[in-house]
Amino acid sequence: MHNKAMSVTIAGVEMKNPVTTASGTFGSGKEFGEFIDLNQLGAITVKGVASIPWKGNDTPRIAETYGGMLNSVGLQNPGAEYFIQNDIPFLRQYDTKIIVNICGHTIEEYCEVAEKLADADIDLLELNISCPNVTAGGITFGTEPKMAEKVVSEVKKYTKQPLIVKLTPNVTDITEIAKAAVCGGADALSLINTLQGMRIDIHNKKTILANKIGGFSGPAIKPVALRMVYQTAKAVDVPIIGMGGISNGEDAIEFIMAGATAVAIGTANFFNPMATIETIDGIQKYMQQYHIDNIDDIRGIID
Ligand code: SIN
Repeated sequence: MHNKAMSVTIAGVEMKNPVTTASGTFGSGKEFGEFIDLNQLGAITVKGVASIPWKGNDTPRIAETYGGMLNSVGLQNPGAEYFIQNDIPFLRQYDTKIIVNICGHTIEEYCEVAEKLADADIDLLELNISCPNVTAGGITFGTEPKMAEKVVSEVKKYTKQPLIVKLTPNVTDITEIAKAAVCGGADALSLINTLQGMRIDIHNKKTILANKIGGFSGPAIKPVALRMVYQTAKAVDVPIIGMGGISNGEDAIEFIMAGATAVAIGTANFFNPMATIETIDGIQKYMQQYHIDNIDDIRGIID
């Protein structure tokens, strides 16, 4: 296979292979760097960064469930200044692209963090209008097309990097939100964020998550995510980063055939720290097995 066989381009940014990490499942890569060679990743997508530090929700905020997990972290993060000083220099040691997920409670806060990062040495921004665990911002912007378009177009005034918009599956028709985000100026889309879910501890008669409701992710949601990537790829013309239950190369190939340009590994990182690397290897093996010279040749091949 030639060198560029697996490379993909998201909004003008070339990734050596289509595999990145789903925001919030990989931190800024420091812990995972002890297990895997971060140079091998197409990109690292970091945990959501806000303009100022956020403390997140009360604990417990993680719960295992059949085929996946629930989280209600609430976008805990140390803020943009800390991120710029500490995480970017760490990430820049590696030959991989940097995607920074950004969050806010209001349009002004989203714009503030985009402005703080405008001159930072990063490759792409991912606008999180899909977090289900905050009472302001997040999903509240991502479920209504007009709001989605508005926040994207406002943030675009402050960004210097191409903007990916991360979509929630918690809507009736994801293509309506996707089209609105593209109208607002999204250069690419990522989907899906988590599905809203909950668990109850029947012995203590209370919800397992302190926040009661959280975001459901992991292998169990893969068919839903795949369906939404497929529908969205047919509806818009920008590149898509597909995610939702991807654990290996075969899962990744499904998303690429559904129309994704790149894929992100999320929950699988928690049960297999090698999941990103194994996914890259799995894609390569599949391409060799079926004599596929370039990954572009299988993208979106499902009618
Ligand atoms: C969280 O921090 O609550 C999860 C992030 C997200 O779902 O976007």
